[in-house]
Amino acid sequence: MSLKISVIGTGYLGAVHAACMAELGHTVVGIDTDASKIEALAAGRSPIYEPGLPELLTSTGESGRLTWSTDISAAADADVHFVCVGTPQRAGEYAANTDYVFAAFTALAPHMKAGSIAVGKSTVPVGTVPRVLEAIRENVTDGIDARLVWNPEFLREGFAVKDTLTPDRFVYGVEGEFADADVEKLDEVYDKALAAGTPRLVTNYATAELVKVSANAFLATKISFINAMAEICEATGGDVLALADAIGHDERIGRKFLGAGVGFGGGCLPKDIRAFLARGEELGLPDSVAFLRGVDATNLRRRERVVTLVEGALGDVAGKPIAVLGAAFKPNSDDIRDSPALDVAERLVQLGADVRVHDPEALPVARANRPGPNYVDTVDEALDGAQIVLHLTEWKQYRELDPAEVATKVANKVVIDGRNALDGARWADAGFTVHSLGRPVVEAR
Ligand code: UDX
Repeated sequence: MSLKISVIGTGYLGAVHAACMAELGHTVVGIDTDASKIEALAAGRSPIYEPGLPELLTSTGESGRLTWSTDISAAADADVHFVCVGTPQRAGEYAANTDYVFAAFTALAPHMKAGSIAVGKSTVPVGTVPRVLEAIRENVTDGIDARLVWNPEFLREGFAVKDTLTPDRFVYGVEGEFADADVEKLDEVYDKALAAGTPRLVTNYATAELVKVSANAFLATKISFINAMAEICEATGGDVLALADAIGHDERIGRKFLGAGVGFGGGCLPKDIRAFLARGEELGLPDSVAFLRGVDATNLRRRERVVTLVEGALGDVAGKPIAVLGAAFKPNSDDIRDSPALDVAERLVQLGADVRVHDPEALPVARANRPGPNYVDTVDEALDGAQIVLHLTEWKQYRELDPAEVATKVANKVVIDGRNALDGARWADAGFTVHSLGRPVVEAR
């Protein structure tokens, strides 16, 4: 079944969602107040590095099913309106800023036609959705019903297209007299994935809001758990990689998201756990979310650990060339939001080191937004004369480096593998002393 769809907010989530909805056969208009974003998208250019997205933007654009606009009235014809705007952390606070969410629904409401539904995909603090519904009610045309579904998104950057077209599950938060009709309408949107057997859970609003934040809190906790074990391993001679493998065989635990290293970053996990902490406290339930303070603190300690290791290897770092491999918060992304790699690089810059940062995709955005480190276009420029090599984002091209060749470029053969992704034995064979987080040091051979 083909529907008319509007997608409001064309950032990471919205751009991908709009292209994927068109790919499913719907007629889609993507709307954003940022004219430069809309211009780029209309020209088939992806505003972000996301595998598969440029091709999808081009093919759906050419099909005529995907158009773009800066004018919210372009949504008027749509049966379903997806709101995909961001909820960033408020400056100087832990709480999420939901202003864009309210602004988007308020702007949309007067353009909703009879029978159309508004669908929220943004990550919001629990308790927000009834207030959003109220904002719609206050702004819809007389005689039009205010209908709202909360349908959180679980996409991972780097896999965003796949995660949107074939998600693990759908969650529909519905309430009120239109609940059944709303579920039917959203089923029409996702009919292909549902027919392929994707589970669909219908919940109330609060649960739908919580599914997203609690899933991210769980993932963050899993990473910080293994990173806390890495700290214990460092103090006792244990090997966190072997430990993760061993406990991961227990199906109740599972091996995924037990990747110890320099910790999590990005636009979701750090912000979402902090927003959850703030919301829990607001709800008078500080004890229920207190564990997330430990999750956040453990995560940040791992960044400091890398700096401590560098100082342990080099002594005073002032003026010393340091190669940082990676700027994005994870590979296959050009997203530098809360990137552990850049945080470490900046801490070293503050200590006076000559930090050269390379990344295959994130350099333009890093140069524009995070001045400080010396950003270099090639791995060789980073390595040339370096006193130490820091591997902080596990891009494939870094894993494939030939350590023997690297050895000919650096001034001092020490590598810190902040992602436990390099072949330590090979690097040691090439004469490197290898420090991996949570693992015994491998001495040069
Ligand atoms: C995350 C969630 O996975 C996704 O479901 C949600 O919708 C948005 O937030 P994303 O931020 O794209 O997605 O990245 P993810 O792949 O989850 O990685 C998050 C961070 O954790 C990265 O910095 C990554 O390097 C780190 N990580 C991940 C680890 O340190 N160890 C692991 O084992 C896994």
